Amino acid sequence: MKALVLSGGAGTRLRPITHTSAKQLVPVANKPVLFYGLEAIADAGITDVGIVVGDTAEEIREAVGDGSRFGVKITYIPQEAPRGLAHAVLISRDFLGDEDFVMYLGDNFIVGGITGLVDGFREARPDAQILLTQVPDPTSFGVAELDGNGRVVALEEKPAVPKSDLALVGVYLFTPAVHEAVRAIEPSWRGELEITHAIQWLIDQKHDVHSTTISGYWKDTGNVTDMLEVNRAVLETVEPCEDGTVDEASEIIGRVRIEAGARVVRSRIVGPAIIGADTVISDAYVGPYTSVSERCRIEDSEIEYSIVLRDASIAGVRRVEASLIGRGVEVTPAPRNPAAHRLVLGDHSKVQISS
Ligand code: G1P
Repeated sequence: MKALVLSGGAGTRLRPITHTSAKQLVPVANKPVLFYGLEAIADAGITDVGIVVGDTAEEIREAVGDGSRFGVKITYIPQEAPRGLAHAVLISRDFLGDEDFVMYLGDNFIVGGITGLVDGFREARPDAQILLTQVPDPTSFGVAELDGNGRVVALEEKPAVPKSDLALVGVYLFTPAVHEAVRAIEPSWRGELEITHAIQWLIDQKHDVHSTTISGYWKDTGNVTDMLEVNRAVLETVEPCEDGTVDEASEIIGRVRIEAGARVVRSRIVGPAIIGADTVISDAYVGPYTSVSERCRIEDSEIEYSIVLRDASIAGVRRVEASLIGRGVEVTPAPRNPAAHRLVLGDHSKVQISS
């Protein structure tokens, strides 16, 4: 069995972070979302992994490399334009050969991995298997309609009026039957070959399509709330460690990971939290559910329930909460006079000012 990981796409829903970084590399608990997917694939015993890449190919390659750190072998498959998930399967035909495969969307996060799912598929071996989950707003997903016996009768891509609240999760299991389906369908209104349509084609051709409903699923939806929530869930499971240094005047409470080269000076950190490598926290308070990446500086400030990306600095600011701070960002207090906010914000930034 092989895996096909999709890591193209523009990530418009996570702007401005994705103006400068691939959406699959946005970190959750200081680790790119994509890495959790690759680890889940490796845990399921799959070692032959194709990654379909687009405009951000270089960045993905640099982060993932040959896959040896995950115990897998990576083949990169360039997709010249984002023509859809079924198009990605179409161009990966040589890599996939005649093997069964799991298709995994690199921006999806499945709590608990996919091992049970893959094992179940290997045993029952339907022609295809999809994953469903209940979501509050199904209109931005593929949506499934089930009959009384839980069998999939129809699928619709981003319907204006959804027939259920069961969204297609970005993990699909296929036998080679899917190859005929992706060749048979036409582009959708958004000009893409939709995998949803290919699966509908399989259903129409009386192929056996199973579904499993899961909980513990996350995907970016444009509001930072989801990212902070998955960060919270993952931080609950981090192993505490103190590879950096903590001075006598500091206090560390609960599950806190302090990575190598990090320094905590005259500060209080209440876990679960991660302080990235070579980050300096001084005269500060870092509260629960906070991930601070590497080489950041948090000085004379308070921060809680937030994600801070690498090389950012926050100095003299209280109090930062429920925030996503991008790479290399600087947050400082404004001079007293005139009392005004001074902002240099990138395109599509979102700011909430408390005054
Ligand atoms: C894609 C699929 C959609 C699925 C979603 C899950 O949407 O087309 O059916 O529910 O992934 O992440 P897209 O990311 O292209 O908006």
